[in-house]
Amino acid sequence: MAVAEIPGSLAADFQEVDQSKKRQTARVIDGKAIAAKVRASLAAEVSALREAHAPSPGLGVILVGNDPASHSYVRGKERACEEAGIFTETMRLEGGVSQREVVDQVERFNRDKRFHGILVQLPLPDHIDERAVIRSVDPSKDVDGLHPENAGLLLAGAPRFVPATPLGVQRLLIEDGIETNGAKVVICGRSNIVGMPLAALLLGRGRGANATVTVCHTGTRDLASETRQADILVAAVGEPRAITSEMVKPGAVVIDVGISRVEDQSRRRGYRLVGDVAYGEVSAVASAITPVPGGVGPMTIAMLLHNVLLARKLSLGGGR
Ligand code: GUN
Repeated sequence: MAVAEIPGSLAADFQEVDQSKKRQTARVIDGKAIAAKVRASLAAEVSALREAHAPSPGLGVILVGNDPASHSYVRGKERACEEAGIFTETMRLEGGVSQREVVDQVERFNRDKRFHGILVQLPLPDHIDERAVIRSVDPSKDVDGLHPENAGLLLAGAPRFVPATPLGVQRLLIEDGIETNGAKVVICGRSNIVGMPLAALLLGRGRGANATVTVCHTGTRDLASETRQADILVAAVGEPRAITSEMVKPGAVVIDVGISRVEDQSRRRGYRLVGDVAYGEVSAVASAITPVPGGVGPMTIAMLLHNVLLARKLSLGGGR
């Protein structure tokens, strides 16, 4: 019924309801606060472990080249390790370094007992075969969860190291009380580091899983018709504002994994960080949404610490 057909005060009510719907904004999922809570509990566990067993958990990082975003991520990881009582050392290599030199450094970390976890910051320069470097990491130190052995364990339903971002998304859903059991989850993006492992995690059984999962990618015929089915929509495409409001079912939960730098001369640094989701318009449709920054990013760092602690426990013959 058109508004004009409704008599008197009822029409005013109708219009008000309609407008308030448009203004409705989604609840913001505070990844920063949830990550801080997870990190505090990991720091307490690290502290107890250090008292019982020397040495401290250790993380060896390899950073190649001078991509400013990669340098900034690695600094964030180093700081988080220090705060949690995890020993860390970063090998910074020039962009022109050979693949052999990168693998040699990985192998030094493999042999060095001070390091229970190894992380090679990605992406690597084009002349280096990323897969070969990842395969050279000792699978029992592969806290990035990218070695084929760890990827296989996840698919086999016996996860050991799971990549930190998907693990962080799952933990965020659990900590925020978002039900995944029976939910329809649509993931946009099929990368080895986010989309694929997240699909495997959410398809599993148990807490924070048991979802019906669809993975969309560049070959998907009608992306919006897929994303509009989602109770939980995960954007991991690496393209600013790729997910717009017409692609989201009213009331859906939207998780934004993207993080891109876009030029903004009004900012001191000359750029600002944006996600894959058109945040303003989508938060008028969704019931809950993660911000960028302050959503998935801090959870990724928290779950890296979780994986380093797990690696230390496994080195002692323990487990989760
Ligand atoms: N580059 C962007 N995200 C990641 C990550 O989770 N791990 C590594 N190693 N590199 C990245």
